[in-house]
Amino acid sequence: MIAPPPLKLPPPPRLRRTRRRASRVLGVIVLTSFIPLAGCARGCTSSRPPIHLNPSMDDQPKALPQTASTFFYDGASMRQPVPGTVAIGGLKEDVAFFTGKGADGQFVATIPVTADEALLERGRQRYVIYCQPCHDARGDGKGILFQRGSVPTATFHQEKILKYPDGQIFDVITNGVGLMPAYRWPIPPADRWAIIAYVRGLQRDRQARAASAPAGVK
Ligand code: HEC
Repeated sequence: MIAPPPLKLPPPPRLRRTRRRASRVLGVIVLTSFIPLAGCARGCTSSRPPIHLNPSMDDQPKALPQTASTFFYDGASMRQPVPGTVAIGGLKEDVAFFTGKGADGQFVATIPVTADEALLERGRQRYVIYCQPCHDARGDGKGILFQRGSVPTATFHQEKILKYPDGQIFDVITNGVGLMPAYRWPIPPADRWAIIAYVRGLQRDRQARAASAPAGVK
C-alpha cells in the first residue's frame, strides 16, 4: 500500500496575519532605504541649484556687505556711520581704565577699580591662565620659558616692579615689553586690572613673609 500524501493544511490564520505584516514592514524598509540612495539628498555635489521649496527671501534685490552699488553716489553699498556715532560698548571715556594713564599722561598709581574678593578671585583665575605659564605660580619668573629655554623672565618680587605704578603693569600687559608678548586681545581691560590686583597680593604676601621670617630664612 502506498501511504497517502501528508495533508497540506493551510497555516493557522494568526500565523498568516503575522507573516503578511512582516513582509509589509520589510517592504517599507527596503523602499525607504532606497529613497536617499536614489535622490542622494546629502553628501553629493551637484552643479544644479538646490531644490528650494520656499525661495521667499533668498532671491531678492539686496545689498551685501562690502559690495559696490550704483544707488549711492560714492559707489559703495555700505554707509558711513553718522559722525560722532559710538557703537554700543565702544565708548572709552574712562581713559585711566582703558590705558592705565591719567589725564596728565602719567601711569596711574593704583588700579581704577574697587579691589574686592570677586576681583581678586577673577584675577587669580586669569593669572593662572595667562601669566603663570611664564611667571610661575608665585611670580618668581621660573615658568616654562625659563625652565626649557633659560629665557630671563622677570620676577614680580624685584625692587623695580614693586615700585611700578599699577598703570605701568597695565601697560606691560597691554603692549608687552622686551621678550614679553602683548596680551591686549586675549585679556580685556577689566581682567587686566583684576590680574594686577592679584599680582599686588602676591607681592604683599612675599613682603609680609620676608618681614616676619627669622633672619636668614626666606
Ligand atoms: C610667554 C611668556 C610670558 C607670559 C605669558 C607673561 N609674561 Fe610677563 N614677562 C615675560 C618675559 C620673558 C619678561 C621679561 C621681558 C624682558 O625683560 O624682556 C616679562 C616681564 C614682565 C614684567 C616686567 C616688565 C618690565 O617692565 O620689566 C611684568 C610686569 C610682567 N611680565 C607681567 C606679566 C603679566 C601680568 C602677565 C599675565 C597677563 C605676563 N607677564 C605674562 C614673559 C611672559
